[in-house]
Amino acid sequence: MSKLYIVGIGPGSKDYLTKIAIDTVENADIVIGSKRAIDIFDNIKESIILNVKDLSEKLELSVDLAIEGKNICVLSTGDPGFSGVLKPLSKIAKEKGLDLENIEVIPGISSLQLAAAKNKLSWDEANIMTFHGRENIEDILKVINNGLATIALPSKSVKDMAKFLIDNEVDPQRKVAICERLSYDDEKTIKTTLDEVSKGDFTYMCVMIIF
Ligand SMILES: C[S@@+](CC[C@H](N)C(=O)[O-])C[C@H]1O[C@@H](n2cnc3c(N)ncnc32)[C@H](O)[C@@H]1O
Repeated sequence: MSKLYIVGIGPGSKDYLTKIAIDTVENADIVIGSKRAIDIFDNIKESIILNVKDLSEKLELSVDLAIEGKNICVLSTGDPGFSGVLKPLSKIAKEKGLDLENIEVIPGISSLQLAAAKNKLSWDEANIMTFHGRENIEDILKVINNGLATIALPSKSVKDMAKFLIDNEVDPQRKVAICERLSYDDEKTIKTTLDEVSKGDFTYMCVMIIF
């Protein structure tokens, strides 16, 4: 039976790839993923690169190829189930009639887990939120003052997110950690305040923790 594997590849460095992710990818007929995801594997038979603009089209293609009988791997950075491709891909698979039994999810280490670990934070005692590619920024106001740290995948601009919180009466002196490019050689964690974040420039590839 052909399968569509949705494979979590971890935060980006090879060090965080699981053995099962490597084995699954190496055995697949075709691997579909972003260039940064494809590049961390050494032995891929055939690959198709996707980017933000053609994401839906390539996810549809992955389902079509699986229906045709190929073993397909779709790569998701971090874990596929946290702001990853699991949700959109499951929807497309359902629409196209690919049975759930033909889909297997291989979990990966999420950027959220690595950010929590770097900050010695137990993430079962944190608010976990994602604003990646969404318009739900107001949701953070429901939890930001509930006494727990908030771990968030920010919206496009971390600066604007900090401004939004300050404009909504969150204390500008709240402690914040911005964890950039986790697992890469140039990984950096900046410990600062909300006020400083609202004035600074940070890369899009970061996890924000508001303590
Ligand atoms: C489409 S979401 C994917 C999240 C992924 N599924 C996960 O579990 O980490 C992409 C966002 O995840 C965060 N992210 C992914 N990899 C990261 C890394 N190596 N370092 C910091 N943040 C990362 C960034 O906020 C980025 O904009």
